[in-house]
Amino acid sequence: MAALAVVLPLAAQHGRYLNESRNPAIGKPEAIAAGAKLFSGSCGGCHGPDGGGGARGPNLVQRALWHPLADEAIFQAIRKGIPGTDMPPTALEDEQTWNLVAFIHNLTGPASEQKVPGDAAAGKQVYASAGCGGCHAIRGEGGRLAPDLSNIGGSRPLASIRESILEPSKDLFYLGNEGVSVTLKDGRKLEGVAKNRSNYSLQLIDRKGDLHLLRMNDVKEMTVRANSMMPGDYGKRLTKEQLRDLLAYLAGQTIR
Ligand code: HEC
Ligand code: HEC
Repeated sequence: MAALAVVLPLAAQHGRYLNESRNPAIGKPEAIAAGAKLFSGSCGGCHGPDGGGGARGPNLVQRALWHPLADEAIFQAIRKGIPGTDMPPTALEDEQTWNLVAFIHNLTGPASEQKVPGDAAAGKQVYASAGCGGCHAIRGEGGRLAPDLSNIGGSRPLASIRESILEPSKDLFYLGNEGVSVTLKDGRKLEGVAKNRSNYSLQLIDRKGDLHLLRMNDVKEMTVRANSMMPGDYGKRLTKEQLRDLLAYLAGQTIR
């Protein structure tokens, strides 16, 4: 069994939180583990086992990306509930509540700071055999069509990396990576991923990784794909173990 190198700093340094909490539970592995246990017993039924959302509660990880919550605000939400919604109050002690906050904080931080199960070395093989490198680059190696993944573990929570792999078309247009087909006035046709699209210009990266700088004045017609250029069937093609190992590999990709 290969050991996975996971960085678990004592206090998470990423600046996504409005006020970094001084509570000693934050970033402490034992507190996170205790919080995980409580979460799966009392919260996972609504919020999903890893906070990724369920039928009765929102995805806490995505929420934190759009609308960062301070640890203290999470504490209060757990203690008092959110009146007028399904989110119930709890009667947990301070320490237990902080353990839950530590767990959620960890869940929404970069994957490289989370405890990620799986075998990263096996995941590297999965990455190669699934053809990810045909479109993505890690540290200069691989394709240029799709976003660079060299710092994916250092920048994205695990649940959101998982979602990108399993449901690539979700939230696509917010990312500015939509697939487009373009017919130019001179008759040339191009297909690829659009970057920095505006009323005046478009940067299009084709499947070979070549960048085309286009003036919208030269474009006769443009169709925006409704779905991602990334294959949408990895959830079926990869076994549970392969996905777990792939995530362990990606979680370890940081530029620091
Ligand atoms: C019965 C379902 C249910 C249970 C059980 C539940 N929640 Fe919630 N929770 C919700 C709903 C629904 C919301 C969204 C409320 C709203 O609309 O603002 C929510 C919101 C939250 C938020 C606030 C998110 C934000 O961005 O404002 C946090 C944090 C949270 N829940 C954590 C927990 C924790 C920790 C537990 C377990 C102690 C838990 N929840 C149990 C349904 C639930
Ligand atoms: C045919 C090209 C293609 C292949 C093959 C591909 N991807 Fe992607 N991927 C994309 C594109 C394009 C995006 C940009 C957003 C979108 O379209 O979903 C993307 C987005 C992502 C993201 C989100 C990146 C970010 O910064 O938001 C991750 C993570 C990812 N892919 C991982 C993978 C993994 C892992 C594999 C292999 C199992 C893979 N991709 C295979 C094209 C591809």
